[in-house]
Amino acid sequence: MSAFSRFTPLIQSLPATIPFVGPEAIERQRGRRVTARIGANESGFGPANSVLLAMQQAAGEAWKYTDPENYELKAALAGHLGISPANIAIGEGIDGLLGQIVRLVIEPGMPVVTSFGAYPTFNYHVAGHGGRLVTVPYADDQEDLDGLLAAVKRENAPLVYFANPDNPMGSWWPADRIVEFANALPETTLLVLDEAYSETAPPESIPTIESLLDKPNVIRTRTFSKAYGLAGARVGYALATPGTAAAFDKIRNHFGMNRVGVAAAIAALADQRYLKDVIVKIAASRDRIAQIARDNGLKSLPSATNFVAIDCGRDAIYARAIVDRLMSDHGVFIRMPGVAPLNRCIRISTGPEAEMGLLEAALPTVLRTLAAAS
Ligand SMILES: Cc1ncc(COP(=O)(O)O)c(C=O)c1O
Repeated sequence: MSAFSRFTPLIQSLPATIPFVGPEAIERQRGRRVTARIGANESGFGPANSVLLAMQQAAGEAWKYTDPENYELKAALAGHLGISPANIAIGEGIDGLLGQIVRLVIEPGMPVVTSFGAYPTFNYHVAGHGGRLVTVPYADDQEDLDGLLAAVKRENAPLVYFANPDNPMGSWWPADRIVEFANALPETTLLVLDEAYSETAPPESIPTIESLLDKPNVIRTRTFSKAYGLAGARVGYALATPGTAAAFDKIRNHFGMNRVGVAAAIAALADQRYLKDVIVKIAASRDRIAQIARDNGLKSLPSATNFVAIDCGRDAIYARAIVDRLMSDHGVFIRMPGVAPLNRCIRISTGPEAEMGLLEAALPTVLRTLAAAS
């Protein structure tokens, strides 16, 4: 394949890659429909009816660009969180914001600390900006705060990524340990505290907004993709000091937000009763997945997210076989962690009872098929 000859040396050095194989691609590759979409940590419970209505109303205005200052969404978030709009940056999901954060801080060759096996999109952005990943192993299936701090200090790293609760294991730390971690970091190290799953986590695991809001070296990222059920709308936000938040304006795509998505986010924020209902459903679905695991002789890990990691008790090949068979034989789409030792697990997103029923029916058949083949 011939490609343009003057891509930057960095781009030329990166391997050709399709980093994320989505359920649509899996359907195309296998020629089989997904019947239970419980692999990408979306919310099968969907958005509120009030949100759907707001999206319908906004659809007719899709010919207009979105307000590049995102004034209304910032005002709504500021009101909801009791902070100033100046503390908020808006982006195309957390994924978009992560790219901007890496770009704000990292020049080629700089060290960036994260956990080995943590959320891969962050790593992808680090590679794309030439950063050098320094990874710290999970300890007992949980991100290792002391290990992350030690790596930051050893490397004099300008950036560290930490998700609480984390993906892919669903683990979490108490809020006071996170504040302690943030306070122990050098002022010259920026902490990305990814709180994609803050709504489904125990309240005592999420630091209060005030506890970190005056720290220029902390950015908390949140999203409407998970509990709010709006992954396809691509709306996320970052919380930081006004000075740090303003830096996003230097580089962001000012017309990058989609008008229907922003209207959806504003409506979702206004419907906290729906959010509460969904959080209860997610918790019940976590219990249901744990029960299905138990019924099949597998051990689920505790989770504060909208998914559950299940320890399949063997190696990555076995976990991969379960993931593949569930999809190929039953159309049940799930995923698994990418690296050892986490990849002895499979990861199943919470969802409505119809999907849970399909999982419940398919898993024992898959395990029996694999046992017969070994
Ligand atoms: C830890 C974590 N951060 C960020 C994201 C992506 O969020 P968004 O849809 O807002 O880009 C995910 C989605 O799986 C996630 O697990």
